Amino acid sequence: MRVVQLSDIHFGGEDAAALDAATTYVTADPPDLVMVTGDLTLNGTPREFRSAELWLARLPNPLLVTPGNHDTPYWNLPLRALQPFKRYRRFIGQPSASRYDVAGLHARTINTSRGAQPRFDWSKGAVSLKLASAAAEAITAFPADEIRIIGCHHPLMEITGTPVTGGVHRGQTAAKLFCDRGIDIILTGHVHTPFAVALPFGDGQTYAVGAGTLSVRTRGAPPGFNVLEISPGCVEVTALGWIGAALEIHRVWRLPRRSAPEGAAPEPKLSRAEVVVQNEGPSAAAGPS
Ligand SMILES: [Fe+2]
Repeated sequence: MRVVQLSDIHFGGEDAAALDAATTYVTADPPDLVMVTGDLTLNGTPREFRSAELWLARLPNPLLVTPGNHDTPYWNLPLRALQPFKRYRRFIGQPSASRYDVAGLHARTINTSRGAQPRFDWSKGAVSLKLASAAAEAITAFPADEIRIIGCHHPLMEITGTPVTGGVHRGQTAAKLFCDRGIDIILTGHVHTPFAVALPFGDGQTYAVGAGTLSVRTRGAPPGFNVLEISPGCVEVTALGWIGAALEIHRVWRLPRRSAPEGAAPEPKLSRAEVVVQNEGPSAAAGPS
């Protein structure tokens, strides 16, 4: 199975060349699933949402989309506080609980973005444990060897080395819940740098995978996106980066996957995580997410 993860396009501040390359890549050879993990827009304006809507219409199906903190009306505080996803609904669709099920692959989204919160920084995340639990329950009703993916905008736990934090209320509890339930992969955006790490709960084979950005708001990695190749024994995550003239491999992680089907003859199962390729990106100052 092949999954392409695109994130943090930030229409209004998109990197047009990188975005064009990513769009061409994903449309030329459609994967089994495209997941867009939020921050479609820069300030949540109707014009930006319209650009996002037109772009999403060009992507192949199946396509799941979840909002980011920028997909609320950033400067319209009353609307942001009272109806934060009104524009998202109008242009994109339901902000939570989108789903995709096919034999061998099951995915759900949960919305970790909020319009307003009882804390100063509204860009941080929060997760509903009720929705997280429902998503985990639905997805684990299928056979254990089938791929289980959750998508949301904010990394549920802080990832060492990333330039900004998700600060997700109840994020660690949700991460543990997903690990204990045997979710394979949690796809996120927000930090604008790619990563793939095992979460420290359960059997250690639930992976937090983050994508870079397709905007000009880069933070230490070129603009890019992730391609996941998921086989019985391995989750391989390739972060592709746009270097100004072409897409190149920025980094590759090969991660052991649980639940090789009994009786099958899977590829040799990895015994530990490997970083196969690691190219350094341009350094960039961290800014607001
Ligand atoms: Fe972002």
